[in-house]
Amino acid sequence: MSAPKLRYASYSELPEIAHVMALAFFDDNLFGDIVHPHRNQFPNDVDLYWLRRARVNFWDYRWRWVVAVDRDKNGKEVIVGIAQWERLGDGGKKMECWWFDPRNLLKPLSCTAMGLHTLIWPNRASDPIDEDIVERAYPCFGDVWSGERAESWYLEYLALHPDFQGKGLGRMLVKWGLDRAEEEGICASVASTRGKDRFYQKVGFEEQYGNAGEGEGNPLAKVETGNMFWKMPKLSGQMTVGTAQTATDNSSQVPKGSTGA
Ligand SMILES: CC(C)(COP(=O)(O)OP(=O)(O)OC[C@H]1O[C@@H](n2cnc3c(N)ncnc32)[C@H](O)[C@@H]1OP(=O)(O)O)[C@@H](O)C(=O)NCCC(=O)NCCS
Repeated sequence: MSAPKLRYASYSELPEIAHVMALAFFDDNLFGDIVHPHRNQFPNDVDLYWLRRARVNFWDYRWRWVVAVDRDKNGKEVIVGIAQWERLGDGGKKMECWWFDPRNLLKPLSCTAMGLHTLIWPNRASDPIDEDIVERAYPCFGDVWSGERAESWYLEYLALHPDFQGKGLGRMLVKWGLDRAEEEGICASVASTRGKDRFYQKVGFEEQYGNAGEGEGNPLAKVETGNMFWKMPKLSGQMTVGTAQTATDNSSQVPKGSTGA
């Protein structure tokens, strides 16, 4: 094995990415126990959950898909980790295509295609009631990205192949987004999963503020998870660099996640 490196993912790599995500979150209390209660009976179906979401969200131009790659014993490059970062706020809107750009069709078309994909290949491992629990939760706690927190690089997902955990790659993938946030003078944010608070604190998220289970009717309220962690921009004298924006439309700040794939 050579030294792992980071690069952007391509669309054709989404099945490999989905498999890493499925393995990494297999025993998680949210993506395992709640979303995929039948995963031990149908372990391969878990990939479908991650793949369909990836195929839709890949066409959201505010997202950056950063992978850690290594080489196997035959010298073939393999994906061993993935971080999905989303730029929220006005900075994210600037990354989107102009309204008349035909690439805007890719996300809705993918969403429709993944709806058909679900009919043909249902995810037998999932609970149909809770399969979209994460997408339903975002509007409930989305207000957290407002005021001085409106402009943010948000770490939607971070996953390392189980064979590659504990080697510093999680820290590398987090650093990618922390560096972008620092360059832009904005904050970085993440919603932790169970048992990962200490990890996020160790790798640079200095402040705990908010929880992904907050807000009226939040379906994640029942889940033991979701502390939010932040790295706020560095102070320059008494001024906070680059955080002058105030959210006027909070709904536009909310990560949209997948759209029903
Ligand atoms: C959580 C995860 C991303 C960490 O990545 P990793 O590559 O294994 O972590 P690293 O090797 O970069 O660890 C960086 C530091 O955090 C520590 N750390 C890692 N996981 C930790 C945990 N669960 N609790 C406390 N500390 C942890 C490491 O010991 C290391 O500390 P050190 O610098 O003092 O030695 C990875 O284990 C994973 O993919 N888990 C399954 C999926 C998941 O839970 N994703 C995150 C939730 S969105």
